[in-house]
Amino acid sequence: MCGIVGYIGNQDAYPILIDGLHKLEYRGYDSSGCALLTESGSLNLYKAKGKVRELESIAVKNNCCGTLGIAHTRWATHGLPNERNAHPHLSNSGRLAIVHNGIIENYASIRADLEANGYVFHSDTDTEVLVNLIEYTMLTCNCDVACAVRTALKQIVGSYAISVIDVKKTNLLVCARKSSPLVIGIGCNNTEFFIGSDAISIASHTNQMVYLKDEQVAVCVRGEELDVTDLDGNKVTTETKMVDLELSMLSKEQYPHFMLKEIFDQPEVLRQCMSERLYATDNGFELNIDAVLEHKEVFLKAKRFIIVSCGTSWHAGLIGKQLIEHFCKIPTEVAYASEFRYADTVVTPDDVVIAISQSGETADTLAAIELAKEKGAFVYSLVNVMTSSIARVSNVATDIHVGPEIGVASTKAFTGQVCVLTMFALALGHECGTIEPDEFHEILAEMLTIPDKISKILLQNDKIQRLAAVYTYAQNFLYLGRGYNYPVALEGALKMKEISYIHAEGYPAAEMKHGPIALVDSEMPVVFVATHHQLYQKILSNMQEVISRKGCILAIVTEGDKQVAEMVQNVIEVPPTKMFLAPLLSVVPLQLLSYHVAVSKGLDVDQPRNLAKSVTVE
Ligand code: G6P
Repeated sequence: MCGIVGYIGNQDAYPILIDGLHKLEYRGYDSSGCALLTESGSLNLYKAKGKVRELESIAVKNNCCGTLGIAHTRWATHGLPNERNAHPHLSNSGRLAIVHNGIIENYASIRADLEANGYVFHSDTDTEVLVNLIEYTMLTCNCDVACAVRTALKQIVGSYAISVIDVKKTNLLVCARKSSPLVIGIGCNNTEFFIGSDAISIASHTNQMVYLKDEQVAVCVRGEELDVTDLDGNKVTTETKMVDLELSMLSKEQYPHFMLKEIFDQPEVLRQCMSERLYATDNGFELNIDAVLEHKEVFLKAKRFIIVSCGTSWHAGLIGKQLIEHFCKIPTEVAYASEFRYADTVVTPDDVVIAISQSGETADTLAAIELAKEKGAFVYSLVNVMTSSIARVSNVATDIHVGPEIGVASTKAFTGQVCVLTMFALALGHECGTIEPDEFHEILAEMLTIPDKISKILLQNDKIQRLAAVYTYAQNFLYLGRGYNYPVALEGALKMKEISYIHAEGYPAAEMKHGPIALVDSEMPVVFVATHHQLYQKILSNMQEVISRKGCILAIVTEGDKQVAEMVQNVIEVPPTKMFLAPLLSVVPLQLLSYHVAVSKGLDVDQPRNLAKSVTVE
């Protein structure tokens, strides 16, 4: 989704802005631009359709300079992805420049009012409406830019993170946010400020960060303390956080793509996710999930859990439901956050809502949390960014702790989420007394072996690469699984769609008879997730049904499974494990399969078309 970078200080702004834009590329975008203000007050604007490198080629030619600037990667909402609609946008007089992430829902009526007052629009965007509203407010209220931003934002319905330059104020940059993330990095002695949509984009310059809250406006002036107010102009105090990102996680290292690196990161990051939470002691194993320890009463009293999430995080939620119902015997529902927020779902103070989000910024999940809180439910979130909006608005949050995930297709965050959900369900089940101590200890012991077992699967990377080359012809894929492997089938299909642009559907294997079987022919690859667990025999029957229709099967099986190997064209083996932990292993070959199919097709794996990593608009 759109990304914002800004800088005000004494350094040349351009390299800082471009570096920040490159770091935001992972979020997904289709055009970019930047505006630089020189000390003498001249504003230079550069925009390009496509990749940030296109913008660089234009800007470098123009030898751009300035110590104050704003830049943007745009993911089109209002208007086509082209230069005209790319940000920054200027106000009619050229005095103001703005970059914006979010959606101004009432932009049409504001635009009509402004047009009636003689304003002319040069783009199709809602952003150009906002910058002109700010300018109009400056003129009609005879106020400065910060005051005009506050007044204009009071009229806005929707979401925004903005950064605004006034060419007549070469020492000042104004920013604000509501429901879209924005962070301000503070340079030494306030001599400089770095603005970013996330900490990743500015972390190489400073680790002192202020996360703006909703409806806060910040004025950054070189050499002065950051000035933050609410929309009425009342001063608010902010907290400066030390954010130390693992910068090594932001590099591809020896890998050609972030996605492949992140797949290979999994053994290490799952160890990291479990460390200090799950460990061996003289008496067996100890499991400490802070959220469960701190809010034991709330969790034990819960009449129901409702898991809300989107995309891959929703698939993790489907596994979480099975784990919680099995180990804790507490009814659990899973909802798409985008549906939950507008449905008439009955939510009461006896419910606990579990929000799962890698980024912690997904607009629909955030809105679902707000709704749940209004109805009195306790909100527990699982996030990969503890400074994110979702972590901050939840009653308690657990860090999945897998390091920044840059590839748009989520991989290590999924296994991290499943790992935390498993630990949560086991810890709570232990507290509830709904799990036998022996079983509890056996599963914990097995969990600690999962990283090594994933490493073993990764050794098959070359084999999976060869197999993938065979499947590049496919127009469709069907993924089938049952029980704990059903959400894995959904996730495998999603990975294939996201990065290879091949239509893929995930289904519970037995449901195949009720529709998808009509699609099966010798051209259609059918992936069965058929590890040696619950309903294994029944899955074999489903395979026979596909074989009878000349379907071409690739099966994910438990090591040593001769029966399936003799029945189907291709198998990929995963080490044996307990049923509850099967997804942590069976998903890995599917991640590699989709990766290699996409690479064989010559596609942009890390930034697939039309997709965004962090979906900050609904
Ligand atoms: C986007 C991403 C997916 C992600 C989903 C939910 O669609 O491309 O990878 O699963 O958003 O994101 P979240 O950050 O809330 O987990």
